[in-house]
Amino acid sequence: MSKNINPLWWQNGIIYQIYPRSYQDSNNDGLGDLQGIISRLEYLHWLGINAIWLSPIYPSPMKDFGYDISNYTDIDPVFGTMADFDLLLSAVHRMGMKLILDFVPNHTSDQHPWFLASKSSKESPKREWYIWHDPAPEGGPPNNWLSVFGGSGWEWDEHTGQYYYHGFLKEQPDLNWRNPEVQENMFNILRFWLDKGVDGFRVDVMWHMIKDAQFRDNPINPGYRAEMPTYDRLLPVYSTDQPEVLDIVFKMRRVLDEYPERVMIGEIYLPIQRLMIYYGDKNNGAHLPFNFLLLSVPWEPIKIAAAIAEYEGALPPGGSPNWVMGNHDRPRISSRIGSGQTKVAAMLLLTLRGIPTLYYGDEIGMRDVPIPFDEVQDPQGLNMPDKNLSRDPCRTPMQWNAEMNAGFSESKPWLRIDKNYTLNNVDRQKADHYSLLNLYRKLIRLRTEEPALNIGRYIQVCADDQAISYIREIEGSSRFLVVLNLSHRPYYFKTTQKTLSGRIEISTLPEMEGMITQGTIELDGDQGVVMRLDQ
Ligand code: NOJ
Repeated sequence: MSKNINPLWWQNGIIYQIYPRSYQDSNNDGLGDLQGIISRLEYLHWLGINAIWLSPIYPSPMKDFGYDISNYTDIDPVFGTMADFDLLLSAVHRMGMKLILDFVPNHTSDQHPWFLASKSSKESPKREWYIWHDPAPEGGPPNNWLSVFGGSGWEWDEHTGQYYYHGFLKEQPDLNWRNPEVQENMFNILRFWLDKGVDGFRVDVMWHMIKDAQFRDNPINPGYRAEMPTYDRLLPVYSTDQPEVLDIVFKMRRVLDEYPERVMIGEIYLPIQRLMIYYGDKNNGAHLPFNFLLLSVPWEPIKIAAAIAEYEGALPPGGSPNWVMGNHDRPRISSRIGSGQTKVAAMLLLTLRGIPTLYYGDEIGMRDVPIPFDEVQDPQGLNMPDKNLSRDPCRTPMQWNAEMNAGFSESKPWLRIDKNYTLNNVDRQKADHYSLLNLYRKLIRLRTEEPALNIGRYIQVCADDQAISYIREIEGSSRFLVVLNLSHRPYYFKTTQKTLSGRIEISTLPEMEGMITQGTIELDGDQGVVMRLDQ
C-alpha cells in the first residue's frame, strides 16, 4: 500500500478521454473542434475530473481519424489553430485541470514529409527512418506479418522495388525506432509540447514500436476462430513487444523527466505479466501502462474479483495502478454489460485502487450506435465488413441536450447521433437527482476528497455469483465498504463482523444515502453502495 497521502496530481487524478471529432462542434461543419471543447470545460470542471486526454488533434489525412499524423507540431484545421490550442491549454490550467495529448510514435501518415522523402529513393537520407525490406527470395512480402486492420503488413513500392511495413493501414507506415535519428526527432516533438506546458502523453501502441531485427515469421495462432479479426490468425511474437522496446520507453520517460510532474501513459494490450514490465524495473518506464482488464473481463463478480486480484498482485512495488472502462476502440460499457448495470460499473471504476479513465459519454450511459453500412467511416470496419469490427458505434457525437443534433452541431454530424438523445443527454441528467451523471459526480467528489478511496489499500471481502464487495482503507484514518450487485435480483450482504457497520455514503438508489447499517445490507438488483465504516 502506498502511504503517500500527498501524491502527484496524476496519482490523484481522474482522467477523461475526449474524442475531439465528436465532443462539440463550434463552427458548424459537423465535426468537433478545440473551441468546442473550450466551451465545454465548465461541464468537465463541474463533473470534477482533473485531467483531459485528447485523441490526436494534429494535421492528418484522417485515414485513421488522426492516428495518421502528417505533422506532429501543428493542429489540423478541422480542429482549429495553434492559437486555439494555446487558449485551450491555458483555460484548462486556469480551471485547475491538466491536459494530456495523444502521441503516436509507432507510425506516421504516408503523407508525412519524412515518409515522402523516405520513399523517394533508396538513397534518401530518410530511407532508414522507416522499415523497408526486399521481397522474400521466392518473391512476395518479406515475411508473414499482418496488419491490425486486415491483410498483409507489407506494402509494395513499385518506384524503389522494396516493401515497407505498416502494422496498421498502408497509409500509416511504421517508423524505424532502431534509428537514433528517428528517436531524437520524436523526442524533440515531445519537448515541443512539453515546452508549451502540456501535462503528459498517452502513447499510442507502445508495445508495437520495435520489431524483430531478423524479421522472423510470426507463428500461427492455434486459438484463431473465423469471427476474430484476421490479424489474430498469427501470434504477433516477432512484430510486437520486443525486449528492445523498453529502452525506447525508458528514453521517452527521461524526456518527460526533464520537466516537472509530467505523466506518461502507455497504450499496451498485453497479458498482465507482460504489461507490468512497461513500468520499468526502477519505475523508470511508463507511469501508467493502461490496464484494460475491465474492457474485456466477463461481467461476473468472481471473474472481476479474480481480475482485480491478478492486477493487484502483479503490480511492481511503487507502480501506480489504473483502470480503464472505455475508449474509442472498444464497445461502450453500456452496450457491453447493459444499461441496467452502468451505475454499478461507475461505482466499481471510481472505488477501485487505481487512477480511473473515463471515456466521454459513458458518464451519461451513451450506447454504441448502429451505423448503416453505407455510412461506416472506420477503416477497421470497412476493411473487414463481415466481422462487425467498426469502431464508429462508440465514437458518435456527445449528447448534450434535446436540441437539434443533441447540441453537438447545427450541421449534419460526421457520424449519426443515437436516436435516444432527446431522452438521454447531459442537460436532462444534470437535472435528475437519480441520474447516472449525478452518480458519477458524487463518486468523483468522494474519491477526490477521501484518500482511502483514492490510494488506500484494497481488501476483497467477498465475491459470489451475484455480487462483489471490498474495503478501501487507510489504516487509522478512514475505511469504506463497497458492495456491488452485478445481478438483477435482490442481494443480501450478510456479515457478522461488527467492524462492517457504518453509514451509506453513496448509493445507486439515492434514498439509501445516509442510512446506518449493521449486519445485513439488502440491495436491489443492479444496485451498489459505498459505505463509510465506523472505525
Ligand atoms: C490505437 C488507437 O487507439 C487506435 O484508434 C488507432 O487506430 C491505432 N492505435 C493506430 O494508431
